[in-house]
Amino acid sequence: MSDKRAKIAIQKSGRLTEHSLEILTRCGLQYSRGRDELVCFGENMPIDILLVRDDDIPQLVSEGTADIGIVGLNVAEEMRLALPEPERDASFENLGGVSYGHCRLCIARPADEPFDGPQSLAGKRIATTYPNLLRRYLDANDITNVEVVKFSGAVEIAPRLGKADFICDLVSSGSTLRANQLEEVLNVMHSEAVMIRHSGNQSNHHNDWIDRLVQRMEGVLQVRESKYIMLHAPRAALPAITALLPGSEGPTVTPLEGCEEKVAVHAVCRENVFWENLEALKAAGASSMLVLPVEKMLA
Ligand code: PRP
Ligand code: ZN
Repeated sequence: MSDKRAKIAIQKSGRLTEHSLEILTRCGLQYSRGRDELVCFGENMPIDILLVRDDDIPQLVSEGTADIGIVGLNVAEEMRLALPEPERDASFENLGGVSYGHCRLCIARPADEPFDGPQSLAGKRIATTYPNLLRRYLDANDITNVEVVKFSGAVEIAPRLGKADFICDLVSSGSTLRANQLEEVLNVMHSEAVMIRHSGNQSNHHNDWIDRLVQRMEGVLQVRESKYIMLHAPRAALPAITALLPGSEGPTVTPLEGCEEKVAVHAVCRENVFWENLEALKAAGASSMLVLPVEKMLA
């Protein structure tokens, strides 16, 4: 029996959970949390949110149990690399970053472990929950003879247990490494939360709602950075001022009542507007500047 409602898989509890629920709310999805705390029921769209372990999200999306998922790029890539090569591209589509969950996958060492560049890893044991990403990095850097020790969690205690010489794990604030007296020595990859989408055939019903949600998501991400700017400018300075507006295509220019030499300029800036931008605009002749947040945007 196939379910008529579309499904979005997000992390049940962890660093991405709150942001993921917030972004879905900003897309207009109203939901109530089920009693089992595993599913949120969409009240105004036929979309439910599955709250699952992040490591399960790529699989759920790949098999079509969930239509889309929000998950760390590291988790998605690790799962993809675990598949035989011909199946990798068919597993799911990466729709790109959702601008939170930035972190990095690093190799770290205990204080007493000598390290003098990547070749110091040769002949060593590295504990990780990301064996495929680590293997790819080692191969790409011609580091041979490394024993990759697969852990399913708590990698940071591996050296103390005598199970590995180095670890390869995700670092965000760095506090886990510090608490375990480990020092970051190499950066394996950057990661952030990405949206992934099932690539197989689905009922049109699902696709319509998912398309809408994805489109709204793009709008939400765009307005986060976007600002609406209003200012007065001398006509003569218009080219210089237009060029200084961050990420804006042609501004709207209107006359100012009773003032021949000045005009009002309104523009949507698709990048954040900082004090430095305003100071540069002022130096170019702009005055009466106002910067407003953009609430919604639909291209
Ligand atoms: C990662 C990693 C560390 C922690 C590092 O776990 O395994 O435990 O985050 O973050 P910090 O630098 O801010 O201390 P994650 O949140 O992915 O949890 P999980 O492995 O249980 O999914
Ligand atoms: Zn996890």
